[in-house]
Amino acid sequence: MTDRPPPPPSDDLATMTRRLRGAVELQAILREGKGLGKGSVLRALDRAAELIRTERRREGAAAPGRPRAAARVTTASVPPRAKTPAPAAPVVGSWQRDPTEFDSLGELHDAFAECQRCPLGKTRTHFVFGTGSPKAKLVFVGEAPGREEDLQGEPFVGPAGRLLNKILAAIGFRRNEVYIANILKCRPPGNRDPQPMEIASCSPILARQVDILRPVVLCTLGSFAARTLLGVNQGISRLRGGTHDYRGIPVIPTYHPAALLRNSAWKRPTWEDVQRLRREYDRRLAESADLPPETTS
Ligand code: URA
Ligand code: URA
Repeated sequence: MTDRPPPPPSDDLATMTRRLRGAVELQAILREGKGLGKGSVLRALDRAAELIRTERRREGAAAPGRPRAAARVTTASVPPRAKTPAPAAPVVGSWQRDPTEFDSLGELHDAFAECQRCPLGKTRTHFVFGTGSPKAKLVFVGEAPGREEDLQGEPFVGPAGRLLNKILAAIGFRRNEVYIANILKCRPPGNRDPQPMEIASCSPILARQVDILRPVVLCTLGSFAARTLLGVNQGISRLRGGTHDYRGIPVIPTYHPAALLRNSAWKRPTWEDVQRLRREYDRRLAESADLPPETTS
């Protein structure tokens, strides 16, 4: 008798074994997510995606020449366990820390300023977190940094930002008394549209910013911000004009200032939207001031 290891399984068997192990781990991760909040489920999905990516890389290394496929979490055979739908696209990379662990904007910024969760981390100049007052009760949400924003590290400082400043002034706000952020914190090269994967990867940071600020009103600028925060697919022309809801916070969508620079026909509806925004803000702020302190937190 010798201590020789058993003969290696055939390639197919090895692959199947790894897949099976991956499936069992995925099942455990999903089970762990049962009854937990959105954050935990998303974290579990990230870890599942990471596992699958590792398997893919191993398979890719075993079969050179095959293009590297994007990771995809296949849930078809797994019964849904959480009310929150999985992100629309796979999330690249995982985070060491979750945004929900941080209770101040400063800590949140510092924890993610070096983020490399999606490929935009490689091409950005600056991580563009957000700007404005940490006491702001009005939050504007745009799409993603452009060229100027990427260079300066601050949202809305280019041409669209200059127009946003004018819009703010017209309704009686200074830039430093509101808060301004984007869905994506890093610039998509050439200002291309954000990819679903980038939105899914990055938007937990914005969600936490909003949770920390607890604004009385949110204003989304352009289609991407509105669709992302409201979880809908309609275009901005359908969404604007109404007041929507994001986790109990009223949302007033309007056109993107960059769109107004291209098409002046959108100026009038935008003007109507922001006047309504001002009224809604004043009303909600007065209401929240009337509430006893223990119910305002
Ligand atoms: N467009 C955006 O959506 N955000 C910015 O910060 C700048 C331009
Ligand atoms: N398309 C957009 O994405 N945003 C606008 O504001 C207008 C058109």
